[in-house]
Amino acid sequence: MIKTESYLQCVRCGKTYDIGELRYNCECGGILDVKRDLSKLDGGELKALWEKRWGMKRGIESSGVWRYRELILDAPDDKIVTRQEGNTRLYPAGSAGKWAGLSNLYFKHEGENPTGSFKDRGMTCGASAAKLFNAKTVACASTGNTSASMASYAAVSGMKSVIFIPEGKIAYGKLAQALAYGGITLQISGNFDDAMSLVQDVCRELGIYLLNSINPFRIEGQKAITFETLQQLDWEAPDWFVIPGGNLGNSSAMGKALMELHELGILSKIPKIAVIQAAGANPLYRMWTQHTPYEAVKNPETIATAIKIGNPVSWEKSLRAVKWSGGTVEQVTEQEIMDAKAKLDAAGIGAEPASCCSLAGAKKLADAGIIRPDEKVVGILTGNILKDPDAVIGYHQDQLGKLGIRGTFANRPVQIPPTLEAVRNALGC
Ligand code: F0G
Repeated sequence: MIKTESYLQCVRCGKTYDIGELRYNCECGGILDVKRDLSKLDGGELKALWEKRWGMKRGIESSGVWRYRELILDAPDDKIVTRQEGNTRLYPAGSAGKWAGLSNLYFKHEGENPTGSFKDRGMTCGASAAKLFNAKTVACASTGNTSASMASYAAVSGMKSVIFIPEGKIAYGKLAQALAYGGITLQISGNFDDAMSLVQDVCRELGIYLLNSINPFRIEGQKAITFETLQQLDWEAPDWFVIPGGNLGNSSAMGKALMELHELGILSKIPKIAVIQAAGANPLYRMWTQHTPYEAVKNPETIATAIKIGNPVSWEKSLRAVKWSGGTVEQVTEQEIMDAKAKLDAAGIGAEPASCCSLAGAKKLADAGIIRPDEKVVGILTGNILKDPDAVIGYHQDQLGKLGIRGTFANRPVQIPPTLEAVRNALGC
């Protein structure tokens, strides 16, 4: 089936499985990595190949994921489901950097992907794996972005998609996308963690292909954020990557990408990974700071609904990434998330609330002296500003008081009669 020298390996007990075996967990309950024999690859040759593909106009390798296909998935072209994802911009942080006290801060804007979030990178690989396994139906639990992405990739490749979302708890832009792309959308009474547990049972019982990031092929595609960012930096690693953490797939993928580049000799310096969680949904942060065993957070709560997750499936991989890179885990409050969002948006860049953990976390770590003011830092912006307009309007009209959030940097709309005089008064001229 998948012709490669790769295999699956449990991150907990190390047991290996054939790459063509359809499974998401080890017998011991641990989650699985895709492993490949990197000794067969030459780092210098790979870099040259990827440079040659940069800026391709058409074709599979014009995708910002499949450009790196040697480290993504060994699949024939006719099985690859792609929307030319990736190829997102890397912005200097501008005024948001000044606010954070960082002179060398950049943002990789993953909200510029085809469905408006970083999920498209993992999804192109996951959907292609689904094709390799001859899946007809795919499913996921989601706080919104995964479902939007999966519904789109299923639609372009003729698969049926089934989505499990926590009722009333996902941002409208994301629900709209899931419906629009034709996903069968099941709103369950319960939170994301309940939906995640249900979808695993459903996929097992009904023979549906699971496309959450517990699927190791999703993680493989997700690695391309790191590959592409480093290529944009001419393979000179920053000092830090700062990344929001929810289900913890994205930070897991970043760690795996860095490990592979390091093993291939493409990267000598290892950037530190800082995972940023919302204070109300912070199981990894608790483990990290209290040195306690993993324990799920019972009733996660945050305005950043994308990361309102108490029982993240990939915590082991994410923890491995943070430890290996010498990084850290930080938490940010609701107020810190929304103030950072106001600053990031006002800098002209803009992103959805969960993404703004990157800026809020970078500032907090800079304030604490953990990140030095002149260090080179890349924050990952995971979702588009338009995904969650309610949070934006609520903040700028200072209507989030019931959530304990003030509109500190609110830019209130001003109502005026349609006269020149009123405009003069409003503009103070
Ligand atoms: N930012 C955004 C915008 C997200 O949608 C997510 C996760 C994250 C950050 C966290 O990434 O889970 O890899 O740690 N959203 C998932 C979803 C859970 O269903 O769309 P993670």
